[in-house]
Amino acid sequence: MRRYAMLAGMSAPNFSRRRFLALAGAGSASVALASACSGDSGPKTSPVPASGPEVEAAEQARRRPGATIKDIALAAAPLSVDLGGLDAATWGYGATVPGSEIRVKAGDVVRARFTNGLPEATTIHWHGIALRNDMDGVPGMTQEAVAPQGTFTYEFAAPDPGTYWFHPHVGLHLDRGLYAPLIVEDPTEPGRYDREYIVVIDDWTDGIGQSPEAHLDDLRAGRGAHAAHLASGGGPQSDYLRSPGGDVSYALYLLNGRRSSAPVEFEARKGERIRFRIINAAADTPFRIALGGHQMTVTHADGFPVVPVTVDSLIIAMAERYDVTVTVAGDGVYPLMAVAEAKAAEAMAVVRSGSGPVPPPSVRPSELSGRILVPADLVAADAVRLPAARPDRTFGVALGGGDAGYVWTLNGKPHGENKPLEVRQGERIRLDFTNSTTMFHPMHLHGHTFQVINPGGAAGARKDTTIVRPKEAVSVEFVADNPGQWMIHCHNNYHQSGGMMLTMSYVTDRPLSSGERASPLGLVCDWLAPQVG
Ligand code: C2O
Ligand code: CU
Repeated sequence: MRRYAMLAGMSAPNFSRRRFLALAGAGSASVALASACSGDSGPKTSPVPASGPEVEAAEQARRRPGATIKDIALAAAPLSVDLGGLDAATWGYGATVPGSEIRVKAGDVVRARFTNGLPEATTIHWHGIALRNDMDGVPGMTQEAVAPQGTFTYEFAAPDPGTYWFHPHVGLHLDRGLYAPLIVEDPTEPGRYDREYIVVIDDWTDGIGQSPEAHLDDLRAGRGAHAAHLASGGGPQSDYLRSPGGDVSYALYLLNGRRSSAPVEFEARKGERIRFRIINAAADTPFRIALGGHQMTVTHADGFPVVPVTVDSLIIAMAERYDVTVTVAGDGVYPLMAVAEAKAAEAMAVVRSGSGPVPPPSVRPSELSGRILVPADLVAADAVRLPAARPDRTFGVALGGGDAGYVWTLNGKPHGENKPLEVRQGERIRLDFTNSTTMFHPMHLHGHTFQVINPGGAAGARKDTTIVRPKEAVSVEFVADNPGQWMIHCHNNYHQSGGMMLTMSYVTDRPLSSGERASPLGLVCDWLAPQVG
C-alpha cells in the first residue's frame, strides 16, 4: 500500500481528490511525488528531498563569505485597506496592500521571520528567486503549511539581481491582498536612471465583491464569465492573447493598492530618467501598459536584463515583471495606464512633473494602441544569455482542460494525477509547451529562470513566467542547477486551483536515509523500501 504524507490540517488518507484540488499547491504536491516514486520500471531513483544534502550544497555554493543578512519580521493578517475612498476587508502582509517591499543586494541572505495571523494555514513563495528548495513555500512538498498563529523562518541567499515578488502558495490566498515586491539590487548596475518607482497591479474582489472562493465555486458550477465565453465563444477577446482576458469579472483594478479614480502620483522632473519596476500581482488579469506622451524602453524581463527595446505599450500577464525606463518629456501630468486586457476597465497612476488636474480614468493615451512589445523583441542581455547547447532532456508540457467542471490539466491530467518530470542535476532541460485550450496561460517554473526560445530558434529573454497562447507552441531551456522538487504551473490562480500544475522532480541514485523517508513532506514511497539499508 502506498503511504501518503500527513498534510497540514487534514487527516491523511481520508481526503477526497476534490478537496485536494481545492487546495491546489497544498495537498496535491505530495500525491504527485508519491506517484513519481511508484513510477517506471528501470533503475530505481529517489526524489531529491527538499532539505537534502544536494539542496544544502547548492545553497552553500550561493553563499558568499560575509554576506549581509537581511532580517525581516513579516506577518500575514486580516486588515482593512483604503483602495481610494473605498474600504475593503482583506488579508495582507503588514498594514498596506501591496505589502512593503523587501530590498536586498544580490548575494545577500534574506531571513524573513514569518508569523501567520490568518485564520487559515498559509505559506510564502518567493516568486522567481533561485532559492533553496525548502524555502520555496509549496505546502506538502517543500514545507508544511504554517498553521494559524504559527511561525516559520524563511532563510535563503538571493543570488540574482532583479524585480521579484512574494505571495502565498495556498488556495486562492494570492487573490486577496497578500503580495509584495522583493527587489534584489545589482551592485554593478550601470544605474542610468534618476529615480525608481515600483508599480504593482492587481485585480480586486476581496471585501467588496464575491470572495475568491465564491468565484471559484461559480467557475466549477459553470456560472460566470468563463462559462459565457465557453458557451458562445463570445465575450471580449484580446487580439494579442488570441483569447479572452480571464475567467473572473472583477469589481476593481488597482495600481499600488489604489483604484483608478484615486490614483497614486509619481513625482518627477522634466528630463529625468525614471525606472519603473512593473509587477503583475493579479490572479486572473493581464494588463496593457502605456505612459501617455512617452515611449518606454524595456530593460529587464522577469528580473533579468534584456537587450533594450523601445515600445509604446506592452502586455504583462499574471506574475510577469517588466522594468522599463522613460525620459520625462515635459512639465505635465501623464497617465500611466494599466488597462485590463479584454476586460474593459483599468488601473492607473500619474507621473507628475508639473501642475494640472489628474486625467480621468477613462483616458486612453494613443500609446496604448501604438507599437506593442512582442515576445520576439526580447533577447537576453549577453551577460545572462545561455550558450547554445543540445538539451539533455526534452519534455512536452501539454496545456489542456477548462471544460465543464473547470478542471485544467498539464499533460492530460490535473496535478496530483499527472506524472512528474524527472530531471538530474546538471542537465540542460527543454520544455515544449503546447496549448489546446481556448485561453492563454502564463506558465511559471519555480526555482529557475529559463531562456525562451524565440521563433527560428534564436535565444530569447531569460524569464520565469511566459505566456502560451491558444494553439501556440513555446519552448524554453534551462540548466537544472537547483536541486529539489519544483512546481510548473499556470499563474492564473483559478487555473492553478483547477489542477494546472505539474511537479518537476530532481532525482538521484542515492538511497534516501530512513529519516528522509520518514519526512512528512511526501517523500515516502514504498518502492524505495528495498533500497534502505
Ligand atoms: Cu508565483 Cu508557484 O508561483
Ligand atoms: Cu492558465
